[in-house]
Amino acid sequence: MCGIFAYSWRRKDADSILLHGLERLEYRGYDSAGITVGNDAHVVETFKAVGKVSALVKEVSKKRPSDAFYQFGIAHTRWATHGGVTVENTHPHSDVENRLFLVHNGIVENHSDLAERLSSAGVSFYGQTDSEVVAKLIGKETAARLRTGSPDSLLEGVEAVLPRLEGAYALVIMHADLPGELIGVKYGSPLVFGRDTKTGDSFFASDVQALAGYADQVTFLDDGDLVRIKPDGTYEIRSEGFLVSRPFERVETEHLKTEKGNFEHFMLKEIFEQPKIMKAVFQGRVDFEHLALNAAAFQDLRDIDIERVKFIACWTSYHAGWAGAYAFREYAGMSATVEIASEFLNSPVRVDPKILYVFVSQSGETADAIEPLKFIKEHGGKTFGIVNVVGSSISRLTDFGLFTRAGTEVGVASTKAFTAQLAVVTLLALFYAIKRGEDFRKYRSALNDLAKLPEVLQSVLSSSGEIAEVAKELAKRPHLFFLWRGSMLPIAAEAALKFKEITYLHAQSMPLGELKHGTLALIEESCPSVVFLPDDALFAQNQSSISEIQARWGKVLAISAKPVQNADWNLVLPSAPGLTFAFAATVAGQLLAYHAALELGREIDRPRNLAKSVTVK
Ligand code: F6R
Repeated sequence: MCGIFAYSWRRKDADSILLHGLERLEYRGYDSAGITVGNDAHVVETFKAVGKVSALVKEVSKKRPSDAFYQFGIAHTRWATHGGVTVENTHPHSDVENRLFLVHNGIVENHSDLAERLSSAGVSFYGQTDSEVVAKLIGKETAARLRTGSPDSLLEGVEAVLPRLEGAYALVIMHADLPGELIGVKYGSPLVFGRDTKTGDSFFASDVQALAGYADQVTFLDDGDLVRIKPDGTYEIRSEGFLVSRPFERVETEHLKTEKGNFEHFMLKEIFEQPKIMKAVFQGRVDFEHLALNAAAFQDLRDIDIERVKFIACWTSYHAGWAGAYAFREYAGMSATVEIASEFLNSPVRVDPKILYVFVSQSGETADAIEPLKFIKEHGGKTFGIVNVVGSSISRLTDFGLFTRAGTEVGVASTKAFTAQLAVVTLLALFYAIKRGEDFRKYRSALNDLAKLPEVLQSVLSSSGEIAEVAKELAKRPHLFFLWRGSMLPIAAEAALKFKEITYLHAQSMPLGELKHGTLALIEESCPSVVFLPDDALFAQNQSSISEIQARWGKVLAISAKPVQNADWNLVLPSAPGLTFAFAATVAGQLLAYHAALELGREIDRPRNLAKSVTVK
């Protein structure tokens, strides 16, 4: 999704800093990129390119005067929402005089009304974006104030326009005639403000990861915050017109560790990190020696009185929530459901104080999840966050939470963050199992299984070559089914999503029992199925469903805990007992998708049309 990076002021190579910042934001997914840079001689230049940041880098080196220097600027990667993928629609956008420039993440919902009013006042637009409308508006207000000589022209211009905007936005704005000055505003879309305390340089970014190595201190802005960087390098933060102070945090250098190492893709690297991540998830939370949860890690939840749990999340994270709902029913004997975040407010909602609303999110910035979260909070609901990115909006908005500790995930298709989510939702369910005095043996046996997870996942990873062979076969077919019974639902749904996302082939997850109620009509040789068979009471039933598929010439890959005699291909995960099978099958599904996509030559880390962090509704 769109990315913002901005810089001011001591260095003379602002253009290279901005381009490097954009490279760090590339993983979010985008279709075009641009920068505007300026200097104290009031010179400004804008460079834009459709496609990758590398195309923008070429554009800058082609058009930049060799003796130019730039001291401040704004940069953006655009993921198209309003208007096509064109140079005109690429940010930064400018006012009519080409002196004010801004970058924008989010969507200004009333942009058509605002544009209409500007048009009737004679303003014309070069593109179709809502962001350009905002640039024209702020430019007009600022220009009027500059004519009066106000030293606060840009601030006043911005403040005059903000109340007219409806929707969500993170904006960073600069003006050619106000060198060094930058204004950053956050409302509904993420924006981080960073400082290099040694040099006094300032930065903005939509993602803290982009600031590592540049800023040593960052603050995650709140909705309604406005930061003004003044030409002398000092800054002020305002909220609702008043000066406020915000806490600064150190930037973790962990964020810099996003190299692929010896792996061909980030996705593969992240899949292979999973055994290590399982250890990180359990660290300090589980005492495996005594098969008990560490009470201190769940302290916040001890005194909260709830009867039910509702998970709310978007797709991959929704699948983790689904697994969480199963785990709550299985271990804690509690009523638990899962809801698609983007649909949550589309039907009447009654916020219930007896429900714990659990928001699951890798990025912690998903707009579709933030909206129901705010609604639930406003209506007095108890909210819990299971989030990967520390400091992200969902981690800050929820009342309580547990981080997933998966580390930075670069591949757009979520892998390690999902398994970490699975582990955390399981721990949460086990915490309520013990709190409510449920079956103690079951609880200990689950913890005993979890202790084996790093080893179990390692053994699945060692079957990568075997999985690649079947993946090559599946990649030849345009459609396939991922079939399940019982608790395998979220695992199959996630495997199908992963497959679709990076192979661009059609994959659908279905309950095995429902096949004969309609979908069986699609089964033929060119439509294979992947069936998940844990070693449970449903094994025999699952096996006979495989025969039903084969009777219609459908080929079957069985991913199973023990050998399946009638499968066309069988990936047996014998060392995955009980609870660990779901995790092992997840990793197998990820590798299946990866190898099929590799076979098809897809752009695995950045699949077409997708973004890592979906910050618009
Ligand atoms: C798919 C994927 C997405 C995300 C979804 C929610 O691989 O990653 O389906 O799960 O966009 O994002 P988060 O988890 O950041 O809220």
